[in-house]
Amino acid sequence: MKRAVITGVRRIGYEIAKSLLSKGWLVGLVYKTSQEIYQKLFEEFGDRVFAQKGDLSLWEDAQRCVRNLSEEMGGVDAFIHLASPYEATPLESVREEDIEHHFKPIAQAFLVMCKELKPIMLKNSTDIKGRIIAFGDWATNTTPYRNYSAYFLAKGALHTAVKVMAKELAPEILVNAIALGPTVKPPDFSEERWQEYINKTPLKRAVSLKDVIKLTEYLLEVESMTGEILFLDSGRHVAGECT
Ligand SMILES: NC(=O)c1ccc[n+]([C@@H]2O[C@H](COP(=O)([O-])OP(=O)(O)OC[C@H]3O[C@@H](n4cnc5c(N)ncnc54)[C@H](OP(=O)(O)O)[C@@H]3O)[C@@H](O)[C@H]2O)c1
Repeated sequence: MKRAVITGVRRIGYEIAKSLLSKGWLVGLVYKTSQEIYQKLFEEFGDRVFAQKGDLSLWEDAQRCVRNLSEEMGGVDAFIHLASPYEATPLESVREEDIEHHFKPIAQAFLVMCKELKPIMLKNSTDIKGRIIAFGDWATNTTPYRNYSAYFLAKGALHTAVKVMAKELAPEILVNAIALGPTVKPPDFSEERWQEYINKTPLKRAVSLKDVIKLTEYLLEVESMTGEILFLDSGRHVAGECT
């Protein structure tokens, strides 16, 4: 049975976990507050679901979650990193703790968990020892939104970390990212504001969860791609200007 560690399981991560579980995987969840997601999956899939509660802002929590989940599942084949705060931090009032609040779970935890996973994945007997997928954002680097400085600083570091890790972990472990466009409405957005975001995509529709799951599962099978950041964003990155 294949084994995946997934962080950030509240919404999109939950859908990915559910799909992998329904295909027979063992899944180890890392949650900070979403214990009900673990319970929900445990009720449906029983002892193929494992979980660690942790704050990925903390280096030692990131290490502990990987080590414990690997021990419980008997190893790890895949790591899918979705954990990410998404809070407005206007430049005039941005504080050190805002930067840390975003940077540590998004970028630092990714690096720490990859570091911990390397020796674990290298024990696998398969040709390709492991696959790692990070969830980025279509607007990172070249077209950031205004007022999200802490978030974009962290996502920029995550996109870079994907390339760094692809090099560090080759040839045995593949590392790629999905840069998502508007998929699931952030809880603090009004319907109107969300519709505006969607209308800015050339395809005039939100990214479908079905596509997110399919692309994730493709990256869990791919043999000859690493260091890639794939835009899954209804074409948003070709539409130009952001506000
Ligand atoms: N939704 C979209 O349309 C969209 C668009 C572009 C990019 N993305 C990216 O896609 C991914 C998933 O998005 P989503 O909307 O499903 O996310 P979400 O519902 O906002 O959930 C964020 C997740 O991050 C976890 N998290 C935050 N801080 C953490 C910390 N310090 N330690 C551990 N976990 C932490 C939360 O864990 P708990 O729930 O356990 O607290 C939660 O599961 C994210 O990386 C996001 O940036 C999403």
